[in-house]
Amino acid sequence: MNKANLSIFASGAGSNLLAIHDASLDKSFPGKLQLVICNKVCPAFELAKSLNYETKLISNLSIEKFELIAHQELIKKKIDLICLAGFMRILSPNFVLKWQNKILNIHPSILPMFPGLDTHKKILLNGLKIHGSTVHIVNEKLDSGKILGQFAFAVKSDDYNSLIRNIKKYENLLYPEVIRKYIWTFLFKEDKFFKDKKIHLNNVVFSY
Ligand code: GRF
Repeated sequence: MNKANLSIFASGAGSNLLAIHDASLDKSFPGKLQLVICNKVCPAFELAKSLNYETKLISNLSIEKFELIAHQELIKKKIDLICLAGFMRILSPNFVLKWQNKILNIHPSILPMFPGLDTHKKILLNGLKIHGSTVHIVNEKLDSGKILGQFAFAVKSDDYNSLIRNIKKYENLLYPEVIRKYIWTFLFKEDKFFKDKKIHLNNVVFSY
């Protein structure tokens, strides 16, 4: 089976990296993780190394220099799709344009609500009863590209830490599925298997 070459950009704990890795072990998954790029030493970087992925650490540089090196590495590895997974730098419009429609991101809010940082704090501060995450295409405006998938769950007596735990648990289910669908539909132009899905799992609604 022809597979899309994937790169993950990460700066954090790496739970979504692990989820994409796990999904890619399934023969029917249409992507192969070829390169992990981190902008600092972080658990995601260590995890990628321990899983024997090719890794590139590009730290302490301006975003332009970071992107220049990253771009060369992506071309070298013939990358078809970049998945941002807890990547804590904002990519320049120039880079986004070069990789137009080939960068996905997972953001921990139900966009367009709460783009940017500190989404969990904002949920708690505003007493919101619903929280969730969004997978979207990256465009030149922060957290504003086309929405590909979301989930939503009820906030109960959650505190900051339990919100993060819940968010990540469900992100780790959503992100690989959205990537799977996006590769088939957008990269391979093959959408006959992919009707829009609405799934209820433990009272959490997933839509993608
Ligand atoms: C996720 O919650 C994601 O939505 C946000 O950063 C976090 C990354 O988590 N962009 P991990 O590093 O994948 O565990």
